[in-house]
Amino acid sequence: MIKNIRNIDKIVFGGGSFSQLEDIIQSKRTENDKFFVFIVDDFFKGKYLEKSLPAYEDDLVFFLDASHEEPKTGQIDELRDEILSKSGLPSGIVGIGGGSIMDIAKALSVMVKQEGSSTLYQGLNLVENPGIYHVGIPTISGTGAECSTTAVLTGPVKKLGIKCEWTPFNQLILDPDLTLTVPKNQWFYTGMDSYIHCIESESGRLYNTFSKAYGDQSIELCREVFLGEDSGQSPENSEKLMVASLFGGLSLSYSEVGVCHALSYGLSYVFGTRHGIANCIAFNVLEDFYPQGVAEFKEMVRKHNIELPENLAAKWTDEQVTKMAEIAYALSHMWDHAVGENWKEKVTIDTIKDLFYRM
Ligand SMILES: [Fe+2]
Repeated sequence: MIKNIRNIDKIVFGGGSFSQLEDIIQSKRTENDKFFVFIVDDFFKGKYLEKSLPAYEDDLVFFLDASHEEPKTGQIDELRDEILSKSGLPSGIVGIGGGSIMDIAKALSVMVKQEGSSTLYQGLNLVENPGIYHVGIPTISGTGAECSTTAVLTGPVKKLGIKCEWTPFNQLILDPDLTLTVPKNQWFYTGMDSYIHCIESESGRLYNTFSKAYGDQSIELCREVFLGEDSGQSPENSEKLMVASLFGGLSLSYSEVGVCHALSYGLSYVFGTRHGIANCIAFNVLEDFYPQGVAEFKEMVRKHNIELPENLAAKWTDEQVTKMAEIAYALSHMWDHAVGENWKEKVTIDTIKDLFYRM
């Protein structure tokens, strides 16, 4: 069957558009128990963004540290229980931050209406009740989490997203000004997520005209931002990378990620490595799968003097490498896209372990 994808309902794009948040959510404030939940990256605590947050007296504001670990199922369950017991069912949820905050906001918007732990809903279409209104405001570009239909969560046994009809945001506010203060390494690693999405999207059997149209445009923007004459962090490039991230995500919505993301999930699961840098560590050793993409990626690394962690495997135990390989192997939809339907004839746990040992 051909995929029937749900897209974002509304998008505002442009510098300064964050100031429209209050007006945008106003009409929703009469829904459910008449309060909003704001999930904000604690990087913004005490900064201008905190002061300009349109939070009313009954609203709940959570500043979360998303710098070390990726969202966990336990964290979502605790937040959900706290919100419901404190104030009831929110009118809506606003997520302001990077990919992790986007995923937390998406997961919460669904989980406030479900019984039991979020581990029960990790997978495709396992959610029973419609989620609530939610708004995504990304403050770093590249993850595509702002438009993906998945809220990626790490649980006790797997890293796998909640993916259902109600995960995509109802509203996006894409304000490139919010991304101007991102530290350089993070800017690079997260931006590369977008580039890698497009390379993986185009290098597999699910690739199609829809994915190509968005993917080609996204790669072109990434090249301007990371390799062009005026490459680097600038207001103009912030706009470009924000659109590259969105289009990279849209390209994926009708295609799939591949080998790099499978390995990256293993790294994140075992070592808690953040998604952007985990992708870069993995992509760096994937010449066999993506020769041109990896060569261009290495050029971008050189151009921006990024010191990519290498020789990591020297410190890993065989047990850790096996665990990462098992996590990666279990992501069959990614291997199926990248290698083909008969991927199990070509890829084994040992093949994957070899790739990890190159890192
Ligand atoms: Fe990604």
